[in-house]
Amino acid sequence: MHKPTVNFLVEPGGCLHGEARVPGDKSISHRSIMLGSIAEGVTRVTGFLEAEDCLATMNAFRAMGVEIEGPEGGRLTINGVGLDGLKQPDGPLYLGNSGTSMRLLSGLLAGQDFDTVLTGDESLSRRPMKRVTEPLRQMGAYIETSATGTAPLKIGGKGRLHGIRYDMPVASAQVKSCLLLAGLYAEGKTCVREPAPTRDHTERMLAGFGYPVEREGGQICIRSGGVLKAADIDVPGDISSAAFFMVGAAVARDADLTLLHVGVNPTRTGVIDILRLMGANVEIGNQRVVGGEPVADMRVRSSTLRGIQIPEHLVPLAIDEFPVLFVAAACAEGETRLSGAEELRVKESDRIQVMADGLIALGIDARPTPDGMVIRGGSFSGGSVNARGDHRIAMAFSIAALRASGPVAISDCANVNTSFPSFVTLARALGLNIAVQAGDSSVGGS
Ligand code: S3P
Repeated sequence: MHKPTVNFLVEPGGCLHGEARVPGDKSISHRSIMLGSIAEGVTRVTGFLEAEDCLATMNAFRAMGVEIEGPEGGRLTINGVGLDGLKQPDGPLYLGNSGTSMRLLSGLLAGQDFDTVLTGDESLSRRPMKRVTEPLRQMGAYIETSATGTAPLKIGGKGRLHGIRYDMPVASAQVKSCLLLAGLYAEGKTCVREPAPTRDHTERMLAGFGYPVEREGGQICIRSGGVLKAADIDVPGDISSAAFFMVGAAVARDADLTLLHVGVNPTRTGVIDILRLMGANVEIGNQRVVGGEPVADMRVRSSTLRGIQIPEHLVPLAIDEFPVLFVAAACAEGETRLSGAEELRVKESDRIQVMADGLIALGIDARPTPDGMVIRGGSFSGGSVNARGDHRIAMAFSIAALRASGPVAISDCANVNTSFPSFVTLARALGLNIAVQAGDSSVGGS
């Protein structure tokens, strides 16, 4: 599936001012469709992220017979079919660029009594899937992959699952969630132990749907045999989308930005901790809990950042924010060092290499390492960078332009639509001089 080329051109000298609400959290939006579909009763979702990744999940469940009304203005109504109510789809389920869809669905589908095939775009077809297929096979699932362990995934309905105890080798919420979803269908008890805490939206939402999840000394366990009861879900703003503007406001001159209703689940707030360690002026106010998830408003103002050694325990808590944190590091005084982040090499792109290439192209001293990067703060020149189809890299370099001495041209940006279709419109409204080039106006307007 070919997408039209989209490039951004960002003029220097913008600023960030005002108040905004970023779109809904991607991780929570995916899970609202998945759990709403296999719950009993009607789930109403507000604040749903209407972006390609979550729509891929929605289309997959529609193809499996779930009636879903919307999305309209972030509202969805999901007519749950119960744990055993999904139907075999007519063909392969195409999941686009979305690793979350593929990894979580593989667990849920391993428990069905029909066969399915999961496919994705070029980037998703390169991403490692053994991390889910190996433990699922240990649970008795029948799954075929390519010779290198990548998609397409062929999942056989003949697999009868049984619970296992699994020590996850990587700190991955996608693997944990995959196994918990498989655990809904596995005989006995399924337990996963994570090497470091990762986002816990699946556990929170299962609890919100009345399904017991136990925490036992560092393990998260689930038993089959329960029922999910439909529940209303109000999806908070995505801190991973807010992060672009947080960094932007910290590095731009005379910026003062308030981001409203942002999810601040402690398994996601590594970006706040890292920015504060760098000296950023981030104020958190109006904290509340909405549908089991903590939410707050955030005010960020221009700050003088300094380079730091990023504490490794914060890596899984900020895993999606490193592209834009590298931009913050490039604007800081002194050196920033990141280690323990080899996962960045297997995201939508190799985020260590692609970010290092772009930073260097814009005149920054950036040295990639196998598991991180060393960045010496400096000045961004203008120039051309390639986002390599990675949404977060396209948005991160747009923010770099706030401190550049000339225009920044960013190619291969169409996938911004996977997580933040209104990015360009919102960025412009807040003061970034960004334009969409090469014809496609579907990325947030032109
Ligand atoms: C996600 C988990 C993270 C994150 C991804 C969304 C999720 O991936 O990078 O964008 O929704 O569970 P890993 O669990 O592979 O680190």
